[in-house]
Amino acid sequence: MTSADALPGVSRTALGVARVRARESARDDRLFEDPLAGLFVAAAAGEPGSEEGAAAGAGNPLGAALAFQIVVRTRFFDDHLLDACAAGCRQVVLVAAGLDSRAFRLDWPDGVRLFEVDLPEVLAFKDAVLAEHRVRPRCERHAVAADLREDWAAALAAAGFDPGRATAWLSEGLLIYLGAADAAAVLAAVEARSAPGSRVALESGGGHAWLRAQAETTPGAGHLASLWQGGLGDDPADWLRARGWETTTHSLAALAAGYGRPARSASQSGFVTATRQPGG
Ligand SMILES: C[S@@+](CC[C@H](N)C(=O)[O-])C[C@H]1O[C@@H](n2cnc3c(N)ncnc32)[C@H](O)[C@@H]1O
Repeated sequence: MTSADALPGVSRTALGVARVRARESARDDRLFEDPLAGLFVAAAAGEPGSEEGAAAGAGNPLGAALAFQIVVRTRFFDDHLLDACAAGCRQVVLVAAGLDSRAFRLDWPDGVRLFEVDLPEVLAFKDAVLAEHRVRPRCERHAVAADLREDWAAALAAAGFDPGRATAWLSEGLLIYLGAADAAAVLAAVEARSAPGSRVALESGGGHAWLRAQAETTPGAGHLASLWQGGLGDDPADWLRARGWETTTHSLAALAAGYGRPARSASQSGFVTATRQPGG
């Protein structure tokens, strides 16, 4: 059961991200190496692929911007999660993990427990490919099938998540697919389970208006744009700061330049990392 037919609607966006990671992994100057991304794409071979993937591969401004953001964010969040573990976090939660393969490719310290939350169909497709290729995780991995608009935290708890331990949370490529109320509810659930020392990382300043304008003139992007619900808008850091998180913003352009992959066009987008202070 590894047909991408198994990935309808928003779940298919995970495949688009895997396409971008597979392409990046083939570059001599790659910013990361994700061999599993190519396996996921191959398992979906012959399928039309996600609109995100099609747009990202089409050599148009929208596709180029999406692919560039995915590449830079993958590297940035790789480093961020390992830094969080070096600082003492031993639980990692990938909120909307999609076809993220960090459990299998990063050099985790001993004792890390990693939880991947996503829709049942995404995790079923992913686990079928992993089983077919007998791939083993490099940490204790738990797949948590749940809809993030529902009581996903109960499923996380049932999988063994311990809210008393510092946790590194990652929301990557998710919030734009949720409405404001659902996005706020996801972060509220994260906050309620964040022991002191916990960290959260997510995107900011996505330039949603620009994305929408581009999508209107980009062939194949209409369906993708129809999935965008805006999340918490361009600055989710405001939401975190208002609740006492200590936040740091990271510009996509500055990070990319630091990685030796300077942006070809101006971008307002970037990332937010935040730490839960004792008593916060
Ligand atoms: C663009 S992909 C990003 C996946 C992954 N974070 C990455 O960067 O590789 C978006 C993911 O969000 C998931 N998603 C969107 N809405 C969701 C919901 N209501 N519940 C659970 N997962 C959801 C999709 O299934 C998909 O895997």
